[in-house]
Amino acid sequence: FMPDQTFAPVFKDHVELFDFAGAVVEPVIKEIDAQWLALEKDGHEHFMLKEIYEQRAVIHKSIRLYRSMGTALWQQLGIDPEEIKTLKKIIFVACGTSAHAGSIAEFFFEELCGMRAETKLASEFRYRPLFSDSDVLYVAISQSGETADTLEAIRFLKEHNQRVVVLTNVASSTMVRESDGFLLTHAGPEVAVASTKAFSTQVAALLWLAYRFAFERGLLSYADFEIAQDDILVAAEMLETALEDTKHTIIEELAPKYAQYEKAIFLGRHSGIPFAQEAALKLKEIAYVFAQAFPAGELKHGPLALIDQQTPVFLFSHPDPVMYQKLLASAQEIKARKGKILAFLFEGQDELSALVDDRLVFPLGSVHSSIIVMTGVMQLLMYTLARLRGCEIDKPRNLAKSVTVE
Ligand code: G6P
Repeated sequence: FMPDQTFAPVFKDHVELFDFAGAVVEPVIKEIDAQWLALEKDGHEHFMLKEIYEQRAVIHKSIRLYRSMGTALWQQLGIDPEEIKTLKKIIFVACGTSAHAGSIAEFFFEELCGMRAETKLASEFRYRPLFSDSDVLYVAISQSGETADTLEAIRFLKEHNQRVVVLTNVASSTMVRESDGFLLTHAGPEVAVASTKAFSTQVAALLWLAYRFAFERGLLSYADFEIAQDDILVAAEMLETALEDTKHTIIEELAPKYAQYEKAIFLGRHSGIPFAQEAALKLKEIAYVFAQAFPAGELKHGPLALIDQQTPVFLFSHPDPVMYQKLLASAQEIKARKGKILAFLFEGQDELSALVDDRLVFPLGSVHSSIIVMTGVMQLLMYTLARLRGCEIDKPRNLAKSVTVE
């Protein structure tokens, strides 16, 4: 690891490390898994596509490893399990896609654990007052474990004597070294700049952690905890099946129809709001389309004025019947203004299906894991739109995989 304020001439068989005054610094050498160095696309046109198709496997791997951890989980997180019982709040700190995973997980912790949950953007975190309550757990989320804004937020928390745990995909990352504890997502190396499998694995990991906390807090029996863990595995299976079931419709029908638009609106409710934000981010990043997500309830407070023939709406339905009815009403508002809608909806949501122009239908699973089920198809749609628009995809213009500057 190169400490800050050092430089290193790299030779064929050794490195030398110096500080800026020219003094020799003893390097800390750690061997990393060589799989990171030999990545192939395995016959896929892009890394992004390969990574979309790896999601079932990596979610399964992660959940299986968590299941086998037992009490080692608490040592790794640096938390006494007794504390979980009294925790009142969990605050996620992250950037980009990882922040969307945090915003989705807020619903898991609020609804399953009876805890307050919030997500803070790491880039803004240090510029607001910090309230040092003792019954709060900070969780930084970062695929790379190196994002400068998130790292600075961790350092800020440490300066204020706050405990912080990191959820990351890289065991040897700076964030693991600087945090009080960690949980790894086992998504494997993600090469495409636009995050896919790292995101769904973060969501799956956070859902698992919420169930684990709920069990610890006496809100879930052991038998129900086992069922809940199985449910995450089933959701990952459903993600893969949904990809198979919809890929022809996406490639042959939907993508050619929607690739021409230069802007798009994304709508959701409840956990579907951050999911819509993540979908809009994917479209911006890889297809260079101006894509904006709104909570569907806000439609009438402004965004409805944007509805026209040139601005399609990607609407994400919700398995909860109340949320579904609200989304149906939003779809009716849009259709009354002759807007175009492509809806992600669940089996049995017939009224919405009949109303919209195009639809992708998913099996009705549990409320919390349904986001995981929709993820692969959402990413494949955005990927296919970008491909038809002739975009670079794996390395979008102006973007970097790991943003190590503020
Ligand atoms: C960059 C990437 C995004 C990612 C964000 C946070 O902007 O392009 O895909 O979501 O960094 O990265 P992290 O590694 O902290 O999750």
